[in-house]
Amino acid sequence: MAIDTVSMDKIVSLCRRRGFVFPSSEIYGGLGSTFDFGHYGVLMKNNIKARWFEAMILERDDIVALDSAVILHPRVWEASGHVEGFTDPLVDCRTCKLRFRADKLKDSQCGRKPSKHPGEIPDCDLTEPRQFNLMFETTVGPVQEAGARAYLRPETAQGIFINFKNVLQLARRRPPFGIAQIGKSFRNEITPGNFLFRVREFEQMEMEFFVPPADAERWYRYWIDERVAWYLRYGLRESRLRVREHGPEERSHYSQGTSDIEYLYPIGWSELEGVANRGDYDLTRHTEFSTTKLEYVGQDGERYVPYVIEPAVSIERIMVALLVDGYDEEVVGERERTVLRLHPKMAPVEAAILPLIAKSEGMVGKARSLYEELRRRHSVEYDDNGAIGRRYRRQDEIGTPWAFTIDEQTLADDTVTVRDRDSLAQERLPITGVRGWLDDALERDWKTPKAN
Ligand code: GAP
Repeated sequence: MAIDTVSMDKIVSLCRRRGFVFPSSEIYGGLGSTFDFGHYGVLMKNNIKARWFEAMILERDDIVALDSAVILHPRVWEASGHVEGFTDPLVDCRTCKLRFRADKLKDSQCGRKPSKHPGEIPDCDLTEPRQFNLMFETTVGPVQEAGARAYLRPETAQGIFINFKNVLQLARRRPPFGIAQIGKSFRNEITPGNFLFRVREFEQMEMEFFVPPADAERWYRYWIDERVAWYLRYGLRESRLRVREHGPEERSHYSQGTSDIEYLYPIGWSELEGVANRGDYDLTRHTEFSTTKLEYVGQDGERYVPYVIEPAVSIERIMVALLVDGYDEEVVGERERTVLRLHPKMAPVEAAILPLIAKSEGMVGKARSLYEELRRRHSVEYDDNGAIGRRYRRQDEIGTPWAFTIDEQTLADDTVTVRDRDSLAQERLPITGVRGWLDDALERDWKTPKAN
């Protein structure tokens, strides 16, 4: 199938140009595949987290929040299976000195001849594959001794399992209930790349939903549907989303069933989010390793180890999917514009306030006071720098859904123009009604105007 999608280079360039994302440690020459988020990137990430938190916690009453430590007791990772099994097979090329995943050679480029895969030209001299653990190691305490070895967490999920008993007792929950957490995870990926898609430091949003074993399959299907609905609610095109169920040979050691919610990224269909039925693997293993019983005991004496259903995703993968899905280039009035058609609740800036003429004290005064009024409750931006067309285009490129323009007529009748990013339609509103108009507009259902 021909992939009709924007290139990753265009997304990288827009993110750079508009200050969403920068290569990290750039003044020192950069540190491959690590990124820093600029102002608009932070605002967008905060929106992604807020929408997830609303859907997981605020809109339901069967999930509670948690924020566990990044560095956990090293035994946690023995119990979870990560020390033994969180590995990828790695090969080195003695000729070009590059490293590759042995199971992904067909997706990699030879260091000498990028049109070939590693091992395809006689020059290639690959080592035998060896297992490489993806966890970053560190030392806790001032002395570098074996006993103080610890790991940066490669997933947030284990912090949830080891707090199961606390939540069960203190939040007085009984299955089905969930614990949700947002936080950084770290993986020493052998082949990071494709911008934010595969990085070594990323922010995960994971929710572990504890259910009676007999209900696990039903809840597994339920969470796949819920998560797909969340992506559609925030504007991803249905034609760019699909659910792919793993075969038994592809599943992780803990999984009784896993489905990837895939998005059609510029690199092809790839995992956006995973939903897994982890069975009772984690609670049973932590019971074994910690000797603390992690089970549910009902008032009637009923006792069992709950099964766990887990939707897990990173903010980075959502951000790339939203940017790719929203990116558009078009010609308007003989001028080209780049526009990010983001859902208004995902866009970094909700509205721009623009005085038509920066030298007009009357317009600037009214625009400033509207900006002061709105900024208390909304992410808004004031801009009086340059021609109005250029200011509109700047806002289009960062995905701002609406611009309120203060012009001559505002001085006469206290009305402003509101311009819609997608349709370019303009209407007039009383300046006193702008706040209410924006509140309502943000609550409206939004669908991308892009054809599928
Ligand atoms: N607790 C289960 C778990 O971590 P995973 O499939 O390894 O499962 C879950 O990761 C999600 O985390 C993925 O679907 C993806 O959204 C994100 N993710 C994983 N590795 C990533 C990386 N190196 N860079 C960015 N996101 C990543």
